[in-house]
Amino acid sequence: MKDLLRQRTSLKEEIEILLNNQVKMEAEASAKYLAMASWCDRNGYKNSATYFMNQSNEERAHMLKIFSYIMTVGGTAISPEIPAVKQEYASFRSVFEAALQSEIMVTHSINRIVTQTRKEEDYATENFLQWFVTEQIEEEDNARRAIELFDVIGEDGTGRYQIDKAIAKIGAAE
Ligand code: FEO
Repeated sequence: MKDLLRQRTSLKEEIEILLNNQVKMEAEASAKYLAMASWCDRNGYKNSATYFMNQSNEERAHMLKIFSYIMTVGGTAISPEIPAVKQEYASFRSVFEAALQSEIMVTHSINRIVTQTRKEEDYATENFLQWFVTEQIEEEDNARRAIELFDVIGEDGTGRYQIDKAIAKIGAAE
C-alpha cells in the first residue's frame, strides 16, 4: 500500500494487510452467496434463495465490521476488488457443499490472522477477531445442517421440495 497514506497507528502493517485480505474474502463470500441465491431462485428453490440472500447480507456485514475496525485503529481500509464468482452449479446439493467449503476456508483464514496477532502482540485485534471465531462456529454449523437435510430427507420424489422447505427453518432459527 505504498501509494496510500499510512497514518500513525499501532496497527502493524502485516496485520493491516491480513485484515484487508479478510475484507476481500468476506466481500467475495457475499458475492458467492448472491450467485447461489440466483441459482436456487432460477431452479425453483425459493426458500434456499432467501437463505442465501440472507447469508450474503451477513457476509457484507462481516466485511463492513472489519473495514470499520481498520479505520477505527488508524489503518487504511481498502475497498475490495471482487474476482468473478461461479454462477453455475451442477446440482442443488453441490450449492450447499460449496457454501460449507467456503465457510471452512473463512474459518481457517480467521484462525491464521488470530495466530499472527498473537505473534505480533496485537491483542486488540485478537480480541476484535474473537467475534468472528464464534460466528464461524454458527456459520459452519448452518452449512452442515443444510447438507444433512439431503441425507436425512433424500432427494427422490418430492425430496428436494421438502429440503427447500426445511432450509427456511435453518435461516429462521438464527
Ligand atoms: Fe463471514 Fe461466513 O464468513
